[in-house]
Amino acid sequence: MTTDRVPTHLGIIMDGNGRWAKKRGLPRLLGHRAGLHRLVEMVRLVKKQGIRYFSAYAFSTENWSRPQMEVDGLMSLFRHYIKRRVNELKEEGGRLRFCGRRDRLPADLLEMMRWAEEETRSRTAIDFILCVDYGGRAEILDAVNALVASGHTGEVTEEDLKKFFYLPDVPDPDLIVRTSGELRLSNFLLWESAYSEFYFTDACWPDFDEPELIRALDDYAIRDRRYGGNRS
Ligand code: FPP
Repeated sequence: MTTDRVPTHLGIIMDGNGRWAKKRGLPRLLGHRAGLHRLVEMVRLVKKQGIRYFSAYAFSTENWSRPQMEVDGLMSLFRHYIKRRVNELKEEGGRLRFCGRRDRLPADLLEMMRWAEEETRSRTAIDFILCVDYGGRAEILDAVNALVASGHTGEVTEEDLKKFFYLPDVPDPDLIVRTSGELRLSNFLLWESAYSEFYFTDACWPDFDEPELIRALDDYAIRDRRYGGNRS
C-alpha cells in the first residue's frame, strides 16, 4: 500500500540555523531570525499543500543548556512571532498551538502563548504546532505522572496514556523532515513517531524553500507504509 499523497501531519526538525549564520560570518541569532522568516513562509506553503497539522521543533528541553544569550534571543523571537504574526495566521485560518512543558518558560511569554492559543482556537484550516520546551521523554514522563495522579488503577493501555499527552487530539506525524544533514530524532515526538516516515536533507533550515518542501513531499508520496504489517 502506498501513502495517501499528502501527509495529514508533517513535523519538521528545523536544524542548521547556527551553521547557516556561521557560513555567512553572522552571529547565531541572525541564523535563528532567518529561521523564523522561513518558518512563517513554510506555514503558508504547508497549508497550500493541504496538510492539516504542521509541527515545528523550535526549542527542546535540552536547549536550555545553550548560552544564556542564545536562550534569551530565542525567547525574544517567540515573543516577536506572537506579537507580529498571530493575527495574520488567524486571518489565514491557522490555529496556533504550543506543545511542551509549561513550567520553565518566562511568565510573560506563557501569557502570550495562552492568548495566542485562545485567539486562534476556532480556526480550522491548519493547526500550526510550535514545540517549545518540548522533549519526547519529558512528554511521556509527564503523561505517566499525570495518569498516576489521576488515580488510574489496573492495566494501562496506549489510549489511557495518550489522553495525558500534551496534544492528545493531534494525529501522529506521517512525515518527519530534518534539515542540515543530521540523521537523528533528537527527542522529537518519540512516542508519536513510531510509524512516521523520515526525510533528511542537507539544506540548513533557513534555506529550506518551496522546492525543498516539494521534494520531501514527493519522496513521501511514493513510500510504502506498512505499519509493521504486510499491507502491500
Ligand atoms: C537548531 O539549529 C534550531 C534551533 C534550536 C532553534 C529553531 C528556532 C527557529 C527556527 C526560530 C523559531 C522561532 C519561532 C518564533 C518559532 P541550531 O542552532 O542547532 O543550528 P546548528 O546545529 O547549525 O548550530
